[in-house]
Amino acid sequence: MTITTPDTPSAQPLLDWYDRHHRNLPWRVSPGMAARGAKPDPYHIWLSEVMLQQTTVQAVKPYFARFLQRWPEVADLAAAENEAVMAAWAGLGYYARARNLKKCAEAVARQHGGVFPDTEEGLKSLPGIGDYTAAAVAAIAFNRQAAVMDGNVERVISRLYAIDTPLPVAKPLMKQKVALLTPASRPGDFAQAMMDLGATICTPKRPACSLCPFRGACEALKLSDPELFPVKAAKKEKPVRQGAAFIAVTEDGEILLRRRAESGLLGGMTEVPTTGWTARIDGETSSAAAPFEAAWQSCGTVIHVFTHFELRLSIWRTAIAGRPKTKGGMNDEWWEPVTNLEAQALPTVMKKAIAAAIPRAFKTSKGRP
Ligand code: ADE
Repeated sequence: MTITTPDTPSAQPLLDWYDRHHRNLPWRVSPGMAARGAKPDPYHIWLSEVMLQQTTVQAVKPYFARFLQRWPEVADLAAAENEAVMAAWAGLGYYARARNLKKCAEAVARQHGGVFPDTEEGLKSLPGIGDYTAAAVAAIAFNRQAAVMDGNVERVISRLYAIDTPLPVAKPLMKQKVALLTPASRPGDFAQAMMDLGATICTPKRPACSLCPFRGACEALKLSDPELFPVKAAKKEKPVRQGAAFIAVTEDGEILLRRRAESGLLGGMTEVPTTGWTARIDGETSSAAAPFEAAWQSCGTVIHVFTHFELRLSIWRTAIAGRPKTKGGMNDEWWEPVTNLEAQALPTVMKKAIAAAIPRAFKTSKGRP
């Protein structure tokens, strides 16, 4: 039984709304399916929650389907080759998550007999599972009364209570409010309902307040303009870094690739040879920095925005007869048929770089600049 104080609205109108308007998502057990006895699969819930961090539902769906087809159980993922997991993750971004995903699957398979812990604390002890994922999996997979807060939930809660402290300072207060609102009964559906409400009704721009189950309780609506919430601290401009990337293709249709160092940005992923990415303009973006001497042709600049900086990458291309000796030696470098690029662990920035030099390298739009 949840005690609702005068300033804590009831969660029931939201649950009623969810029963009628929930989104059908491949990892989700809908209220109707639950009534017929279906239970969420913790592996599916965990996998989807890790994928959904910083990424949209639409972008995640095909990745989720491919992962489950290839690794139907957590033990299959635990036994997978690291390289194969990185390649399947390529394009989702935040590659440390893919490495942790594999480590977490190994821990569940080897230390927990293939069964996910069913509490927030137990989940948090696993590699790569932080506060958000632990709360989301505990609530959605195990129906624990955990306070789940992602970006959508932050928006809903900031409007419901008209919280005018800017983010991220307001986060602990928002989490408290979510905890107070989360009901003892159906906490998993409540968490998903908050996310769906944020995604479909309580949207950043032009929220559909007349359809909202919280319209009677929403403080921001009473004050007139819900769009003013959440209040965000002014964004700092991202620093710009520059570099060059080199696309070398042989007569036989092979391209020179390398593996990035295991640690650091895009660690362990595949790339075309590039210079360092620096904030200085020091000539490192010219063809003088190429991995071997050849007639390098400029193919323009690719811009890619990372979390902490914007990268401007000058793209160079050359066509050569055979495989030349490279300045770096062949440590962690290889020649790959261009027709096999889709199977490589290439992050989006590298797909964009290659597509700038070889427009038909990828079937999907991901690589198009
Ligand atoms: N975003 C993150 N997790 C989600 C979930 N379980 N359902 C819908 N959107 C989400």
